[in-house]
Amino acid sequence: MSKPNHILRPGKRPAKPSEKPVARRAEAPTATSTAIAATHNALRGSLLNCFAAVPRGAEELAAAELAALKIGAVNPGKGGVAFRTDQAGLYRANLWLRTASRVLVQLSQFPCSGPAELYTGVHAIAWQELITPDMTLAVDCSLRDSALTHSGFVALKTKDAVVDRIREACGSRPNVDTAMPDVRINVHLHKNVCTVSLDSSGDSLDRRGYRLERNEAPLRETLAAAVVALTGWDGSIPLADPMCGSGTIPVEAALLAAHIPSGLHRGFGFQRWLDFDKILWEGICAEAEAGIRPLPLGLITGFDLDSRALSLARRNTDNAGLSGQIHYFHAALQDFQPEGDKGVVIINPPYGIRLGEEDDLRELYCQIGDIMKKQCRGWTGYVLTGNLELAKYIGLKASRRFVLFNGAIECRLLKYDLY
Ligand SMILES: C[S@@+](CC[C@H](N)C(=O)[O-])C[C@H]1O[C@@H](n2cnc3c(N)ncnc32)[C@H](O)[C@@H]1O
Repeated sequence: MSKPNHILRPGKRPAKPSEKPVARRAEAPTATSTAIAATHNALRGSLLNCFAAVPRGAEELAAAELAALKIGAVNPGKGGVAFRTDQAGLYRANLWLRTASRVLVQLSQFPCSGPAELYTGVHAIAWQELITPDMTLAVDCSLRDSALTHSGFVALKTKDAVVDRIREACGSRPNVDTAMPDVRINVHLHKNVCTVSLDSSGDSLDRRGYRLERNEAPLRETLAAAVVALTGWDGSIPLADPMCGSGTIPVEAALLAAHIPSGLHRGFGFQRWLDFDKILWEGICAEAEAGIRPLPLGLITGFDLDSRALSLARRNTDNAGLSGQIHYFHAALQDFQPEGDKGVVIINPPYGIRLGEEDDLRELYCQIGDIMKKQCRGWTGYVLTGNLELAKYIGLKASRRFVLFNGAIECRLLKYDLY
């Protein structure tokens, strides 16, 4: 197992603990500032109000993952899961969550119908306790059903309020770095209620760190993990992907079965925060690494017609610390015949139709049905596709259908019991 790199990047670092905290100016307390001071104490002390953003369709899976991490007060909703945890729970959630795209820590929530309310609400947060002038920041913004409709404007106004507050307290202000900020601020406006959070993940969690190059139609890692979770596969029977492309499904399945945390090979936003607890984090990583187990020979196999995709799959597998533990074969679907009398076969066929490709794809989907029926008896088949018209050509009756989103594309994971 290669040594994981837990440090996001060298160079400028947050101030050392001895350089903080920056003195707060005396201010007359207001209802808002009192509420926010309480939120800040929570950020340092016991429980944090968190929100795991999750691709639609995977909310219950992420909630189950959080429960498995012994994180309580889990409340799944549309597009994410709210939960409360302490600093250790926040670190664990980032390290382990396979189906979430980021974990936000809420700082403040206030009514907001215009620029003045936005500025006042954001400015009321004691930013100087979270960001020093020599750190960099970025603001991400999402808006829904609100009076403010321009996300660029909201991000700019938020940034102004943050840097003004820090300048007032410290005499100078931090710079913006949209690519690799020390602190990523998230502003979400929904029905004129503004929620301001810190993004503890930094880069989105689907960037596990093992996929360095992309093939034509790679599956997002979080979606592949959601697919594996929905099949209920637990590593006790074989799993095969006959159209594995860059290997995302086999790699995510292997990470799960080997008990390798999805974030073991990457860094996180919280590692640059002023309150980052390195000893706590290293303990959590060491505990996770101690639980990793090797996979039995032949447990997970991947096949593809495209040898370039297969070399990517092999490279991704090596990068994920799984060298030699997933077996790849250069083969056409037509020749796919899994070994063993039971297992799970997951197929993610192409479904983007370019002009002139329709006939070929219809034929391919017919073949998927035939191969599953004739050559995978005793196995359970799953097909993930974003094209329901093509799915009809499989010609078998699905025993279950799950709705999942691949970015903006609504997909179906179809389950087939193959007798
Ligand atoms: C949508 S991509 C799969 C992407 C993959 N899940 C990933 O994450 O990279 C479909 C794959 O099917 C492969 N493919 C297409 N026709 C095939 C066939 N007849 N037999 C085997 N593989 C085929 C393509 O080479 C491509 O890699």
